Amino acid sequence: MKKITKAVFPVAGMGSRFLPATKASPKEMMPIVDKPLIQYAVEEAVAAGITDMVFITGRNKRAIEDHFDKAYELEAELAMRGKDELLRVVREVIPAHINCIYIRQTEALGLGHAVLCARPVIQDEPFAVILADDLIDGETPIVSQMMDVFRQHQCSILGVQDVPREQTRSYGIVDATPLGPDIEQVNAIVEKPEPEDAPSTLAVVGRYILTPRIFYHLEKVQAGAGGEIQLTDGIAALMREEKMLAYRFKGTRYDCGSKLGYLQATVALGLKHPEVRDEFDAYLKGLK
Ligand code: UTP
Repeated sequence: MKKITKAVFPVAGMGSRFLPATKASPKEMMPIVDKPLIQYAVEEAVAAGITDMVFITGRNKRAIEDHFDKAYELEAELAMRGKDELLRVVREVIPAHINCIYIRQTEALGLGHAVLCARPVIQDEPFAVILADDLIDGETPIVSQMMDVFRQHQCSILGVQDVPREQTRSYGIVDATPLGPDIEQVNAIVEKPEPEDAPSTLAVVGRYILTPRIFYHLEKVQAGAGGEIQLTDGIAALMREEKMLAYRFKGTRYDCGSKLGYLQATVALGLKHPEVRDEFDAYLKGLK
């Protein structure tokens, strides 16, 4: 029985939909209320028992390394001013038993290429891939839900959700056969199909559990549109060889790579935040 201890966070994208905010700092450092997107993603992995966080970084991503590093000057300053609560917040950004590993993707050659960059660290183990810009709010963290499915089935698993048919061209869409209420066997996957060509409306969103065989296939994938190596192409090849499942996770997903999704996440999480929720709720009600 294989155990998952590593998660890959591809954070080397351009984030062009958020320019100029992402000109000098990464999209994954944009905050939802008071925590950057990447911290939500790492907390999800920690909650699932993952201990090794592998970040695939690019240019302008140093802020992510700094965020998960010890901040001596800041901590000393907060301690000196007696700001104990803030000191605790800063120290608790990442638990002490977690290893952070950074790999540089020197050119943004696509999500598939970013995942392939993790190979020297992952080697021969199954692993999770988490896209921080897909923020998923669930009672049980989504990666934990997927690890439970993995423990049972020991195969690759794609996190999926139903999307409106007119949106299929923004996602990888699966053709799948139901095996239970939340689990389907994947028969095919198509990248960004037109609504009339989509085999279903079941879209792959930013959570994956993959077997290490994916690296073999990603190495062979030819660059597609825009010179990018697509993760979907690697997954399609892996699926022809190994069992692959689609898992309908329980939770609300916010596409924080888009402006609208980012704003929706800010409102939803703002309304849950103990410090501001009451005033924020009153403010929103007053707008109508
Ligand atoms: P996106 O498709 O959201 O691209 O990538 P992007 O560059 O981040 O954003 P836009 O479209 O320009 O606004 C999906 C995920 O894959 C990562 C991104 O960081 C994001 O988490 N990625 C993408 C890489 O790590 N490397 C790449 O070469 C491409």
